[in-house]
Amino acid sequence: MAVQEAPPEAPEGPREQTSDPAPRKKLTGREFYRSIGSPKYILAPMVDRSEFVRHSLPSESVKCPYFQPTRRTADGAGEEPYLDGNPALDRPLFVQFCANDPEDFLESARLVAPYCDAVDLNLGCPQGIAKKGHYGAFLQEDWDLIYKLINTLHKELPIPVTAKFRILETKEKTLEYAKMILSAGASIITVHGRRREQKGHNTGLADWSYIRYLRDNLPPETVIFANGNILNHDDIERCLEATGADGVMSAEGNLSDPSIFSEPPPVGSEGREYWRGRNGKGGYRMDAIFRRYLDIIYRYVLEQPVPERKPLFLPSDPVQKDTATKTDDGNAKEGDEVEEPPKKKQKRNKEKKIVNPNLGAMQGHLFQLLRPLVSKHTDIRDTLAKARTGDIAEYERILRMVENAVKAGILEYEQYPERFDSPVVDKGDDSLSGTKATVAEYSRPWWVCQPYIRPLPEEAVKLGAMTMKKDDNKVTNPASDVEVKEAVVPPPEQPTQKEAVTVQA
Ligand SMILES: Cc1cc2nc3c(=O)[nH]c(=O)nc-3n(C[C@H](O)[C@H](O)[C@H](O)COP(=O)(O)O)c2cc1C
Repeated sequence: MAVQEAPPEAPEGPREQTSDPAPRKKLTGREFYRSIGSPKYILAPMVDRSEFVRHSLPSESVKCPYFQPTRRTADGAGEEPYLDGNPALDRPLFVQFCANDPEDFLESARLVAPYCDAVDLNLGCPQGIAKKGHYGAFLQEDWDLIYKLINTLHKELPIPVTAKFRILETKEKTLEYAKMILSAGASIITVHGRRREQKGHNTGLADWSYIRYLRDNLPPETVIFANGNILNHDDIERCLEATGADGVMSAEGNLSDPSIFSEPPPVGSEGREYWRGRNGKGGYRMDAIFRRYLDIIYRYVLEQPVPERKPLFLPSDPVQKDTATKTDDGNAKEGDEVEEPPKKKQKRNKEKKIVNPNLGAMQGHLFQLLRPLVSKHTDIRDTLAKARTGDIAEYERILRMVENAVKAGILEYEQYPERFDSPVVDKGDDSLSGTKATVAEYSRPWWVCQPYIRPLPEEAVKLGAMTMKKDDNKVTNPASDVEVKEAVVPPPEQPTQKEAVTVQA
């Protein structure tokens, strides 16, 4: 996320997707990687979370290529092929497919080839739906098919093909697997350092040593993206060092902290968007990121001018005289901002109903971003849960609630900083272990963007989040020494959905 207080101006350009007039020379492997600027930061494919508006957020200032999973249509129901995004700004872009038929894969890849830089094959999806449909990580046993899928595109498609896969049971097997994928013609491999059974509560940790093993045993010109275990910005450099990969891909870490690819500003240059505590730890403020998110919606989805807003609150600001005790959400306290939200301005545009998948994705994205804030401010959680798709005036109102909450949090910190001390960072408590230690190290005050940290599988079993059950369809999970039958984990940000995981002892 950019450090400057005003977001950069949107590049001019048409919204519609336009194809290149002249065919490009097809580059592959490292030559291709160089041609797209040798990126180090890569935004992961995330079905239902990779909408244009979301991946534009980190790339406003940090040029990060991203992977776009495909959907048949915007709402999944119609027949028209649909690709979200804006190829005029959205580059480099890899479009990802799940596939198990080489000819279908090629036909689909041809449709998107004019609008992207590479087509990726998803070999990592571990969900039940992939098992039923025989795709994603469930092709792992069918190397001939994988070879044909990749090789068909390598030979026939005008742009490169890449592959994203999970590690196998051993380093040696994973190396053989990677060699096969590369020999079929994959230009870049993304290696997710988790096995197929590591999903849901059983996600556990990614094993970077597998990725290092591939780096050390594959030809040096092989382009490798490492994936897994990136919780904050510092982890990116740690991962590059540990694995020797060319780039690092982030998924969940980026959902909770869209600024994860950005360097923190130097001490003393925090501005209004970045918050730093007295222990030197900090992060981008949620109100700042929320504003930027809405701004992107205005600019690229609604194609309207971004509303003018007051500067974000800083404790050093002169005290406002015209404050009040009540706002339209009924929760504001003395000192909260009460200026009229841009609701009226929005009303004028009400007749023009815009249908766009980016509007439908807003609620999920914001729950993921605001998770620590909404667990404390349940009124904001409830308002967000009720927000209707496309009701921008309501999202503006939620933004105002968030701004007021952040302001209250920062003021509380100014008065009682010890309330927010981290046991590890501030109190030197190194007796913590497992998830508790990770939380203590990575968590920040609730108004700052931060990663969501799941319990480790063995902790989830103890907590009762995973239950033991006898079943024949068991899969051994060496990470936790339990056998996992099936993990069905809905997006954690949906407060109403139940989590259901069954584990076999
Ligand atoms: C909401 C969500 C949707 C995902 N969808 C896809 C997908 O469509 N294709 C894919 O290859 N991986 C998908 N993944 C997996 C991620 O790309 C990534 O491999 C995984 O989350 C590990 O990275 P992380 O530790 O940075 O989260 C998804 C992950 C999440 C959290």
